[in-house]
Amino acid sequence: MSCVGFIGTGSMGGALARAAAKSGRAERLLLSNRSPEKALRLAEELGAEAVDNRRAAAESELLFLGVKPQMLEEMLDGIRDVLSARTDRFVIVSMCAGKDLRTLEELLGERPIIRIMPNIPVAVGGGVTLLCASKQVTAEDRALLRGLLGASGLLLELDERQMDAGSGVTGCGPAFAAMFVEALADGAVACGLPRPLALQCAAQMMKGTAELLLETGEHPAALKDRVCSPAGSTIQGVRILEENAFRAAVMNAVIAAFEKKF
Ligand SMILES: NC(=O)c1ccc[n+]([C@@H]2O[C@H](COP(=O)([O-])OP(=O)(O)OC[C@H]3O[C@@H](n4cnc5c(N)ncnc54)[C@H](OP(=O)(O)O)[C@@H]3O)[C@@H](O)[C@H]2O)c1
Repeated sequence: MSCVGFIGTGSMGGALARAAAKSGRAERLLLSNRSPEKALRLAEELGAEAVDNRRAAAESELLFLGVKPQMLEEMLDGIRDVLSARTDRFVIVSMCAGKDLRTLEELLGERPIIRIMPNIPVAVGGGVTLLCASKQVTAEDRALLRGLLGASGLLLELDERQMDAGSGVTGCGPAFAAMFVEALADGAVACGLPRPLALQCAAQMMKGTAELLLETGEHPAALKDRVCSPAGSTIQGVRILEENAFRAAVMNAVIAAFEKKF
């Protein structure tokens, strides 16, 4: 049990704070946000304490930084002296896209720092959070983070050099997957299904297919082959997707996101 703080309780900071509250692993949960009402509202909902940045920085054993990357330096200017004055051990957890460990160490000094890259489905417990850690981070620190964020979905530790490639799938993928669901639903609407039903069918099909692949470990191509019966309707749909370079388009989307960097 420990004291966990969040500076920046917007959509991602808020979602992870909810997961932390759900875990029951935080003895105290401190929430701070530039517009204090947001932290206050969330603190009320979660039974946490709304504080200011300096108090979160002074008291948190695990301190999550949930501000936008372009706001990070300005925010740190306001708490740097508080962090430097601390003599106890604490770990910084940055979710700032594109801020690598070296940059974070330049900004914060050489201390235990964990860089995480969560994605939108953490809000419903179905997320993927990629992480990498500085040298000073211990097995206990990792276990604490895992315990806290367990309710948000899967946590995967990567070599930092793999973070941008992973993020191209996990961070950007929800947008690509949502487009696929939308397109499937559009097709069903064109064939006569009412929109809400079409969306429900498409999204549940995606969820179920993903669960099946994860649970069985089956290769996606093998699953596709199982669904395509000879002279059936599915193989006709597969033919149209191949004609339109569906798989190449999806691969290129991930590569474009990777090349843009985070
Ligand atoms: N959203 C995603 O899918 C996603 C995925 C991976 C990583 N991330 C990372 O998560 C971080 C937050 O993104 P977001 O989408 O959650 O943005 P967001 O909703 O705009 O949240 C950022 C929050 O930070 C607060 N803030 C700004 N400056 C502050 C300061 N000096 N002190 C305290 N709080 C401050 C903002 O307060 P106000 O209410 O006053 O604006 C806002 O509530 C970013 O670094 C982003 O790269 C997000």
